Amino acid sequence: MQFVRNCWYVASWSNDVEAGKLFPRILLNEGIVLFRDDDGRIQAIEDRCPHRHAPLHMGTLIDGGRIRCGYHGLEFDGSGHCVRNPHASGRISPAAKVRAYPVLEKHSLIWIWMGDKPADPDAIPDFSLLDGSHEISRRDYILMRANYALVVDNLMDLSHAAFLHDGILGSKETIQAEYEVTQEGNQITVARQCSNVPVPGLFDLMFKRDGGHVDLWADIRWDVPGCLMNDTGVTSPGAPRDQGTGIYGMHFLTPETETSCHYHFVAARQNPINWGEPVDSEIRTKISDLRRFAFEFQDKAMIEAQQQLLSRSAAVPPFVLLETDAGTARYRRVLESLIAAEREAAFAQGRS
Ligand code: FES
Ligand SMILES: [Fe+2]
Repeated sequence: MQFVRNCWYVASWSNDVEAGKLFPRILLNEGIVLFRDDDGRIQAIEDRCPHRHAPLHMGTLIDGGRIRCGYHGLEFDGSGHCVRNPHASGRISPAAKVRAYPVLEKHSLIWIWMGDKPADPDAIPDFSLLDGSHEISRRDYILMRANYALVVDNLMDLSHAAFLHDGILGSKETIQAEYEVTQEGNQITVARQCSNVPVPGLFDLMFKRDGGHVDLWADIRWDVPGCLMNDTGVTSPGAPRDQGTGIYGMHFLTPETETSCHYHFVAARQNPINWGEPVDSEIRTKISDLRRFAFEFQDKAMIEAQQQLLSRSAAVPPFVLLETDAGTARYRRVLESLIAAEREAAFAQGRS
């Protein structure tokens, strides 16, 4: 699968890019360097000096929001143009420029537009929960050595929680579930509900702390290209959801290469129960820690092993789809149609 380009990808958390520092990152196989100009505005340019192809991130960020190449000192601004040549006559070749990428800061994330169509700020999916007064977990990050779609597959089919996250996010009692896939435009939601099941560990921590039975829901929304919002929680059997508690788990997958991706994740509490101290502090820490444990030591281990197996197979037979794959099949269809449309547009313009 190739990458769709005319959409917003998460490049990093906002606070990853500190004033006065260069932040290099490979996105969709392209080396990019992010930095803040003198006004604190985020900038992103190709991480390659056009002179001798030295990585610009090995240079220095200097006054005026310029990067000075660490090799022979050419200077570049956020538009990607060389604005100073310290040598000889100081003449600047018109070819001395690199690509600049549209970037925006929103919802405490840095979003980057990788396509050649005009960037559309309204196309950033809604993660305004990260701006509000909700209690927010640690803003976390893992580099996954796997294609980003394998991670999106994992999130769009949460039936795996019963096996891979047994005890934390699911159990053998949560294998059977009611299940519904809906689509609105290019946005797909997979709703999953288990009735009257033993409460999984993460939710027991937040709800009654008695290991009793609950109704468990997980409705995960996918937006192009790999932005997911999981509305998940528990309530007493038969009770409405607003009498329960849970989280909004947010996941952002951005390809680094075909076989690696940047995984940013965070959770906002929904309807938190006030237990008082020290329980509330324990809950706060454990939500971040248990999610990190599940993603890093359970999902990551499995998905990277999947990638290794796929990478060493000369001919990979197609996936065998289960009924629970309706959501994964649907989002992949949307992605493939967007990629095909971009390919056709490039072909029509004689670029392919
Ligand atoms: S490689 Fe950058 S100035 Fe020479
Ligand atoms: Fe998982």
